[in-house]
Amino acid sequence: MEIKQVGVLGAGTMGAGIAQVFAEAGLKVMLVDIDSNMLQAALGKIKKSWQKAVEKGKIDDAVKAAREALLECSGDMSGFKDCDLVVEAIVEEIGVKQKVFQAMADICQEQAILATNTSALSITEIAAATQRADRILGMHFFNPVTVMKLVEVIPGLETSMSTTEAVVELVKRIGKEPVITKEAPGFLVNRILNPLVNEAALVYQEGMASAEEIDKAMKLGAGLPMGPLALADLVGLDVVLKVTEYLFKEFGESKYRPALVLKQKVRAGHLGVKTGKGFYDYKK
Ligand code: NAI
Repeated sequence: MEIKQVGVLGAGTMGAGIAQVFAEAGLKVMLVDIDSNMLQAALGKIKKSWQKAVEKGKIDDAVKAAREALLECSGDMSGFKDCDLVVEAIVEEIGVKQKVFQAMADICQEQAILATNTSALSITEIAAATQRADRILGMHFFNPVTVMKLVEVIPGLETSMSTTEAVVELVKRIGKEPVITKEAPGFLVNRILNPLVNEAALVYQEGMASAEEIDKAMKLGAGLPMGPLALADLVGLDVVLKVTEYLFKEFGESKYRPALVLKQKVRAGHLGVKTGKGFYDYKK
């Protein structure tokens, strides 16, 4: 099955980037969000990025116009009925995801594939809310989507081989690198990366060093391209906390227990780059 038309549910940090890379690969995209402000912000961000590419001579005006023509925005999911694949990128909560998957399964054509960009949740549990578990899987992009090459492809218990193959082919077509991984909390990257970020938050909480010093040490000493606290701010501290809580709940091991400082910052609404404040202050 060739995927020509795609849908993206959620126009936040991840959804906007996913919609952008699909349009850049020549796919027709329907981007949907319940919040019209988020939709407008995503569209503005994507167009600005293409305008910059024109100014840098990377693409010409005709390419920019062609990409813009491929991208459509909507406040409701009815447009998903013509899509071969829909990627969900909304809040990291199993109940909410199950509800939207039920709704998408009703709207989309029978053969359409439904993918979730979840950071850690069970694909099988999301799929169980529908009657099409064979055509549901995880398609996990990384932040920032336009830059990061990896897409984890995660089949659930009942995902068919043809579904996985079609998505692997699509990932390659949009210029990304697929890695197929078995379903387990946090999959591959977040299983390893999240405890590292949480440990950095604990070190910060203990007052061992400032956020700048912790990140500097990890960049210069561990060769990381970005410090763990700056990364947490970029990902969104709410997302980091949800993933850490999920790993803790599923594995039941204290090494996954979320740092108190993460909870405090989320409770205070300091979610990182997207709210202007997290471990760093972005308003300065
Ligand atoms: P976000 O908070 O930036 O955006 C979520 C968007 O979903 C918001 O615009 C919100 O209005 C919209 N939304 C919520 N409920 C909706 C509904 N029922 N219908 C339509 N739109 C709805 O979240 P973000 O960071 O983009 O995360 C989305 C998903 O991607 C989560 O599952 C997260 O775990 C995952 N993820 C996040 C990464 C990150 O670095 N932030 C990296 C990889 C995966």
